[in-house]
Amino acid sequence: MRAENSSNHNPLADYFDRCADEGVFEKFSPEELPIAKDLLREMNIQAGQKIIEPGCGEGRLTGLLAEMVGPQGKVFAFDISPRMVEKCLTRNLPPQAEIARTCATNLPLPDGEFHAVVCLNTFPHLEDRPAALGEFRRVLCREGILWIAHTRSREWVNSLHSSIGGVLTGHLLPTDAEFDNLLRQTGFSLEFLRDLPDRYLLKAVL
Ligand SMILES: C[S@@+](CC[C@H](N)C(=O)[O-])C[C@H]1O[C@@H](n2cnc3c(N)ncnc32)[C@H](O)[C@@H]1O
Repeated sequence: MRAENSSNHNPLADYFDRCADEGVFEKFSPEELPIAKDLLREMNIQAGQKIIEPGCGEGRLTGLLAEMVGPQGKVFAFDISPRMVEKCLTRNLPPQAEIARTCATNLPLPDGEFHAVVCLNTFPHLEDRPAALGEFRRVLCREGILWIAHTRSREWVNSLHSSIGGVLTGHLLPTDAEFDNLLRQTGFSLEFLRDLPDRYLLKAVL
């Protein structure tokens, strides 16, 4: 595991530490698993590619990504929650999966080496979105792709986070127009955004 660079006193990390202790994100539910697999198929991730997974949580997606890239590829999966990272490390993921405790706004990675960012169920929690998107742009290669995915619709995600409140207040998926603007401002171009009753998928390129 990489050296950490996130604070121990981040209320959002504390919240997700508690989720980790309850095993909230340990495995996909029987309804979510086929959707997650469909989303991954659509991302067309190839053996040998280098992928970044922000907010990897307990690593339920990390293992699937590591299988897709194979031993010649790499998955750099990271999270701000120490307990999420600990639980991810207990999964005995293959060596192509590197797990780190760090924040999306400060990645300990070189410029321009990664093929895709796969952000599953995490984007609404990124509190400094321009800074995080700037880091994603920096570490992606010229043909790099940003995927933002959810195993639910935007309405479902936003209503859950609004009902939880507290540290999740304002942790909403932007409207299509807001996303388009945000991506433009951070050097991405929106290729498509699909918001369906059971999934959400956004593809952006540099
Ligand atoms: C809803 S969970 C999803 C976990 C995982 N992607 C999944 O679907 O199982 C969101 C995760 O994002 C992490 N997170 C939130 N803000 C982050 C940031 N700025 N940098 C890295 N991770 C972050 C949280 O700690 C949490 O584990």
